[in-house]
Amino acid sequence: MKIGVFPGSFCPITKGHLNIIERASKLVDTLFVAVLNNATKHYSISYNDRVELIKMATKDIPNVKVEYFSGTMADFCCSVNADVIIKSGRNAIDLQYEMDMAEINKEFCGIETIYLACDKEFSSYSSTIVRELVNLNKDITSFVPNGLAEKIKDLLK
Ligand code: PNS
Repeated sequence: MKIGVFPGSFCPITKGHLNIIERASKLVDTLFVAVLNNATKHYSISYNDRVELIKMATKDIPNVKVEYFSGTMADFCCSVNADVIIKSGRNAIDLQYEMDMAEINKEFCGIETIYLACDKEFSSYSSTIVRELVNLNKDITSFVPNGLAEKIKDLLK
C-alpha cells in the first residue's frame, strides 16, 4: 500500500494543482493533499476554506484525502506513514526550491520526493495569478477547478 503526499499552500487551488493531484493519485494507493504553512507567505484564505475548496475539487477522486497540518512536512509524512512526497513546479526557479525542500525532507525523515513535470497548458497557472485577477475584478473561471470560481472570488474579496 503506497501512500503519497502532495503538499502546498493552495491559496487557492488552481487547475494546475488539480492536474497534478489527478496524475499523482494514479501513482499511489492513497494520496494525501496536505495544506501546510509556508513561512514566507501570508494567506488571504483561511486553512479551513483552502481545505474545503480542495475537497470540492477532488470529490470524484476516491483515493484522495485532504488534510491541514501546522507542523513540518516531515512530521506530517511520519504521521500518515507516507512513502513518497510528490511535488511539481512550473519552471527552473520552482525546481530549485523543490530540490532544496526535497533534501531537507530526506534529511528529516528519510522520505523520497518525486517531481512531476507540469503539463504545458498549466505552466502559467498559479495561485498568485488567481489572487491578482480577483483583485482586478477579472474572470478566473479558466484558472480554477470547475464550479469553484464564484466561491474563490467571494473568499478573496
Ligand atoms: O505551495 P507552496 O507555498 O510552494 O508550498 C510550500 C510548502 C507549504 C509545501 C512548504 O513551505 C512546507 O513544506 N511547509 C511546511 C513546513 C516545513 O516543513 N518547512 C520545511 C522545513 S524548514
